[in-house]
Amino acid sequence: MPENTIIANDTSDVISKQQFEYMKLISQIMADRKRGEKPMAYIRTYGCQQNVADSERIKGMLEISGFDFTENPEDADFILFNTCAIREHAEDRVFGNVGALKALKRRHPQIVIALCGCMMEQEHIANKMYKSFPFVSLVFGTHSLHRFPQLLHQTLSEGKRVYERDNDDKKVYEGIPVKRDGTFKGWLSIMYGCNNFCTYCIVPYVRGRERSREKSLVLDEARQMINSGYKEITLLGQNVNSYGKNLPDKPTFSDLLHEIDSIDGDYWLRFMTSHPKDCSRELIDTIASGTHISKHLHLPFQSGSDRILKAMNRHYDRKKYLEIVNYAKEKIDGVSLTSDIIVGFPGETYEDFKETLSLIREVEFTSLFTFIYSPRVGTPAAKMPDPISAEEKSKWFRELLDVQEEIAAKRCASMVSGIEKVLVESETGKNGELSGRTSGNIIVEFKGDKSLIGTFQNVKITQARNWILKGELA
Ligand code: SAH
Ligand code: SF4
Ligand code: F3S
Repeated sequence: MPENTIIANDTSDVISKQQFEYMKLISQIMADRKRGEKPMAYIRTYGCQQNVADSERIKGMLEISGFDFTENPEDADFILFNTCAIREHAEDRVFGNVGALKALKRRHPQIVIALCGCMMEQEHIANKMYKSFPFVSLVFGTHSLHRFPQLLHQTLSEGKRVYERDNDDKKVYEGIPVKRDGTFKGWLSIMYGCNNFCTYCIVPYVRGRERSREKSLVLDEARQMINSGYKEITLLGQNVNSYGKNLPDKPTFSDLLHEIDSIDGDYWLRFMTSHPKDCSRELIDTIASGTHISKHLHLPFQSGSDRILKAMNRHYDRKKYLEIVNYAKEKIDGVSLTSDIIVGFPGETYEDFKETLSLIREVEFTSLFTFIYSPRVGTPAAKMPDPISAEEKSKWFRELLDVQEEIAAKRCASMVSGIEKVLVESETGKNGELSGRTSGNIIVEFKGDKSLIGTFQNVKITQARNWILKGELA
């Protein structure tokens, strides 16, 4: 088994042995084509961690099929774009970048080009791409990922284009090999899909119904990761707070978090994303009393206006959101709060927007992911009247960034002269400087040897530069 590859335990839903047979067949075909040289794959991933985790599974299947990986599409025998549909801008980038592969395919006609991911689950987009890009050999959606070896084999052996969109969005497929990108930070999917249907959001349409992985399998995988040296595990799901609802014994997310936290070892446990409507006090107590659970809560509120939250179908109001946040501040010492915000939802007025500003001032988030509303075909919001101009929305957006910059700077400044435990992640590129993150997910830069990457270090904070901390090894 290649290093860094984990095969999850089998369940009744194990991907059929057949897929492993296809991986073998692919490796034979590629060995013939390459006359013994290693075939190379180039994988480009757009979108959220869910897609990153999917790409890691695709890489796991490719590795067993004999492939090695390259960062240069020119060197590749197989190119795959794993796409994201969350906003128009994300889709435009994919269209542009796939279009640019036409010349590459002309120069190297033997390259096999494939598209997968969330955009391919939108029928009108998948059809358009399949038609517009005849040099693409394989198109498949998120629900067909477990059959990727079979689909790739079909393209390779028949030399035909393959287009596959499966409607099965209710199962969890276990047993897919995973090749994680990182050796000390890793993603661990605990559930797939989403049932919330926020009115602006495409995810429930492209990822299907919410379904959780069995708790024992998640625990086994967490144990394997910890034993193989992972220092940070991030549990993934669109709404981790509703983990377990479809499982027979209905474990809660708090139960799962607590049980993983009980595994011995030197690691941090993170999770994303929490939905405020299901964020329980019990969960906050679990974080507060945890040994490995990081003191960070990413809790997207989207808008500070109750009228807009209702139109978004978010199932909580400003008051409830602030109650949870205040409880978290009270219980979790030094908690770091982050959030996602949408500016310019259809019908939002400047008065509504001001409610968002006042909420971020009140909470004092460490950082924010801010987005201008982007209409998605097929979602209810796309049909709502949207009279505010793009220029006006951009103005509000900049105002939001200015306010948040001030808040983040103030928050970081309050950490100066304290000592923070940091997971060292990388070199900054500036001479001899390293970059890491605190438990609250704040970036810290400090001088140190690169052999420290992948270890925990105590760093004395000496300076705050906007939302980045500077320090020295303590
Ligand atoms: N499941 C997560 C979020 C997933 S999408 C949650 O509910 O919090 C990540 C973020 O993208 C969302 O939180 C939202 O802020 C943003 N987003 C989703 N759809 C969008 C749209 N149509 N336009 C702009 N931003 C959007
Ligand atoms: Fe989208 Fe809402 Fe589901 Fe998050 S909870 S993925 S925003 S529908
Ligand atoms: Fe994008 Fe799909 Fe994630 S739409 S944000 S990659 S779930």
